[in-house]
Amino acid sequence: MQQIAIFASGAGSNAARIIDHFRQHPTIKISLIVCNKPGAGVLNIAAQEHIPTLLIEKERFFRGDAYLPQLQELNISFVVLAGFLWKIPSALVQAYTRRIVNIHPALLPKYGGKGMYGHHVHEAVIAAKEKQSGITIHYVDELYDHGQTIFQAVCIIEEDDTPETLAQKVHWLEHEHFPRIIEEVLSKKR
Ligand code: GAR
Repeated sequence: MQQIAIFASGAGSNAARIIDHFRQHPTIKISLIVCNKPGAGVLNIAAQEHIPTLLIEKERFFRGDAYLPQLQELNISFVVLAGFLWKIPSALVQAYTRRIVNIHPALLPKYGGKGMYGHHVHEAVIAAKEKQSGITIHYVDELYDHGQTIFQAVCIIEEDDTPETLAQKVHWLEHEHFPRIIEEVLSKKR
């Protein structure tokens, strides 16, 4: 069994789709939800699904052991970032080389980097009058939004789109593709 940890600190709509996708999977199990925000929606989803959660603290994540012992104790072999906004410390990147994937709500390398998350991304894309946006699923390295791209999907921006309507289009793409791409990546690692 491949044990997966989802790192998420937002509403958790992507986490919910991923959990749903792998619910009956014979070899892939969502074993842990890692979150840095008490009260985040994703924690309710984890509780409903009876998936253990780990609430992490900044100091220990960045200057301590990066919670590696906890991940290893649960035999976590792969990490999915689904709305997780902290940079991943190098201890974790090195322990999970090409075993951490992130989803970003834009077409990287545009609109990535520190501070570019959630609505900030969609506001910047609309302000720049882009004709399209989309999603990027990529491996995680030690820089923000930088590792090798695995998959991108595009949506068209209409003249009357707002950051809110663009966010909906991007979320739709995320929900449609992220679980399937995770499964593809994992199937190559067995
Ligand atoms: C998603 O749109 C994801 O792409 C974004 O956070 C949202 C989380 O939504 N991630 C980033 O911006 C990372 N830089 P969710 O909690 O509903 O899944």
